[in-house]
Amino acid sequence: MQMISEMMMTDAEFELLRALMYQQSGVHLTEQKRDLLKGRLAKRLRHHSYESFAEYYDHLKNEDPQGTELQEMINAVTTHKTAFFRESHHFDCLRERLLIPARQAATRGHQSPIRIWSAGCSSGEEPYTIAITVAANLERLATWDVKILGSDIDTHVIDKARTAIYPLETVSDLPSDLVRRNFLSGKGEQAGLVRLKPEICNLVKFGRVNLMDEHWPFRGKFDAIFCRNTMIYFDRNVQRRLIEKFVRYLKPGGLFFAGHSENLFWLGDFLHHRAERRQLRGIRNASRSHRIGRRQGSRCPRQHPCRRPQSCRTTLCNIESRFGQRLGFINEGPFSTAPLAFGL
Ligand SMILES: C[S@@+](CC[C@H](N)C(=O)[O-])C[C@H]1O[C@@H](n2cnc3c(N)ncnc32)[C@H](O)[C@@H]1O
Repeated sequence: MQMISEMMMTDAEFELLRALMYQQSGVHLTEQKRDLLKGRLAKRLRHHSYESFAEYYDHLKNEDPQGTELQEMINAVTTHKTAFFRESHHFDCLRERLLIPARQAATRGHQSPIRIWSAGCSSGEEPYTIAITVAANLERLATWDVKILGSDIDTHVIDKARTAIYPLETVSDLPSDLVRRNFLSGKGEQAGLVRLKPEICNLVKFGRVNLMDEHWPFRGKFDAIFCRNTMIYFDRNVQRRLIEKFVRYLKPGGLFFAGHSENLFWLGDFLHHRAERRQLRGIRNASRSHRIGRRQGSRCPRQHPCRRPQSCRTTLCNIESRFGQRLGFINEGPFSTAPLAFGL
């Protein structure tokens, strides 16, 4: 049998496989990703003893009625890089804008359920980080109704997330008291591993959700949705569809978090135009956000609705979605590529 590294992936094979991947997962593989696709599918070809990608594609189309191999292909091609407290300022934002207000409301006798979704959660570090943040900020945790959902299209990473077991190195950069509070250390055969404590695990449930599916299996809405470093693999058509859908799954005032490299400002008609009108009408929230921005001292992105890119130094602003819901997002950099958090 040919070595996979010697095996060619023809233009036609690449087009067929990337179209299938796009159709099934939304993941858009550019021409530069040809070697990545070839490399990641190599194991699957070896597994079936196929000698060409055309044979493998034929298998996917004609010999895979249950979609088992299709799932294996998706598992192999998706990228799963993640970490505990990745982009840690998002968890500060979660504390300040959701958990502290929830705690304050509870002291006034209004204790509401808290629902958070980590969409594209990979091996679980993100939803467990959310759970750690929740546990650290809600006193008498057992009295709260908190549910955190971690979902991903990849069934292998979801299985791994459910174990809640990670190599010790994954927590080596975290403060030692945080690790002691939330993780158990492996002993004997488990040496070199850590496991989340049961009270953290109990807050999180995992399931497979393909964001491309027309119907998402939720009845209620979320206080916060994290979809970070996932939409970056989708093209703009898919990103737009998803953002419009995420917005409908947020409670009023909810938060949406996207990764730092996910620039959503091009969704101008959806996110910005009505904001300009709001601002022209002199709505208080807009000027409040400018004050916050000045205090924090970062510059407004060029496309910011205030249209004063040179003078406005805004990091937090309130805008409206096309549906008239109020959104706020946080932007830390001059060019809008910074982390976003918005809610309606
Ligand atoms: C790079 S990881 C991001 C993990 C985590 N959100 C973070 O920021 O650390 C991207 C995840 O998105 C998942 N993904 C890709 N396409 C998806 C889809 N159509 N539906 C659900 N998850 C998807 C991948 O399987 C992968 O685990």
